[in-house]
Amino acid sequence: MTSTSGSRSVPASRGVAFEDALHSAAEIAARSPSSHNCQPWAVGWPTGTLARRAAAALLGRPTAGEGRPAGRDDGEFLVLALDRERRLSALPAHGTEMLLSCGAYGQILTRALAAQGWPADGVRFLDPAPGGHGPADGAPGRIFGDRWPDAWVPLCVVRLRRGHASARDLDELRGTVRARHTNRGPYDVAGIDPAVLAGLPTARPGPPSLLTGTEHGPEVTVRHVVADAERAAVADLVSRHGGRDFSHRLAWTETYSFVRRDEAEAAARGDGFSLGQLFGPLSPPRRFGMRIALAPPTMRILRHVGYHRILARQLAAVVRHSPAVVALCFGQEEPGAGSVVRGGAVLADYWLEATRAGLALHPVSVLLQHDDVRAELERRLGLPGRAFFVSRLGRAVSAFPPSQRLAAPRALRRV
Ligand SMILES: Cc1cc2nc3c(=O)[nH]c(=O)nc-3n(C[C@H](O)[C@H](O)[C@H](O)COP(=O)(O)O)c2cc1C
Repeated sequence: MTSTSGSRSVPASRGVAFEDALHSAAEIAARSPSSHNCQPWAVGWPTGTLARRAAAALLGRPTAGEGRPAGRDDGEFLVLALDRERRLSALPAHGTEMLLSCGAYGQILTRALAAQGWPADGVRFLDPAPGGHGPADGAPGRIFGDRWPDAWVPLCVVRLRRGHASARDLDELRGTVRARHTNRGPYDVAGIDPAVLAGLPTARPGPPSLLTGTEHGPEVTVRHVVADAERAAVADLVSRHGGRDFSHRLAWTETYSFVRRDEAEAAARGDGFSLGQLFGPLSPPRRFGMRIALAPPTMRILRHVGYHRILARQLAAVVRHSPAVVALCFGQEEPGAGSVVRGGAVLADYWLEATRAGLALHPVSVLLQHDDVRAELERRLGLPGRAFFVSRLGRAVSAFPPSQRLAAPRALRRV
């Protein structure tokens, strides 16, 4: 599966062949956000008899398995997966971030397929590690046959059938996905219109989504933090605990392995972030200095003189001067993997809706990566459940260079 058809136009309400639609959708979904831009997602397309039978059985329709040939009248199936070779693993909380990233990708992929006349009409979440977020070891995807890569952990199976295509929906989605960026610069201090904030969690163009549906999973609550005292409380937590990222040897070594020297190196690698994406435009001497200062061996020395606390205070200052912070919360304290993937789908919709409203996000995940800090955040803001995503929200005053991506077909495989 190497050919792409990202720029093909779709005739209104006719739809395109599934393989073409899948390639176009993967081009769009490749721009999904992920922690450290590690892009841990993968998608198996069951085309072999065994794999289609396994997918159909998981969705409760053993149609192709009961003596009938594996015909196309059962629709198409896709298996969203986590690629263990691309995941972050230094902190237990990274398990959640990986599933959120895969869920966001799955949401954009299925929305792009729906716009091309391939809406999803069935979904089954597979819990790779019941009771936890860490994908199990072994080869959990073997039910889809020998072509399934050992490193891929299946997360959910989706069935898609022919429906109506909308070239307009597809163009709108592609444009919004391209316009969405993490912006780590300052935001306009003017408050955001409450009506705009109120519309973000609910306004959704296009058909309803199966991945975010609440039939099986817990509701996700979106909480906007705008009051001065509450934003000050978030900034205070960042100031006190934001340095943990830098002082945790394993976590910082892993993070630093995603930091690219400049845009050229970021483009060549196709993942991670450049110093320009992290800190805004830098002069060459400043970039060189930052690279040395942030290198794990230097950081191990500099943390004895409190450098990690200086960096935390800088992050706290931008949080304090942002007009809003958004927190997404699960209703339950220990959500299963399926619920977390759904949470990622909700996050994708939210982030795209914020983009349509002209707003930028800058996640501050350090507040969630340590249980004591997360618990204090939830208590101080009176959050209605377990927070799984926290971010600054506002109108960016400067543009940051867009981040790079791996080639979209890398994530796809016929099984
Ligand atoms: C679950 C999740 C957590 C993230 N946490 C952070 C974070 O703590 N700090 C940060 O600067 N960016 C964070 N990001 C943003 C990613 O770094 C960003 O999506 C990635 O580098 C790609 O860049 P883009 O969003 O501009 O396309 C997070 C993204 C996701 C999906």
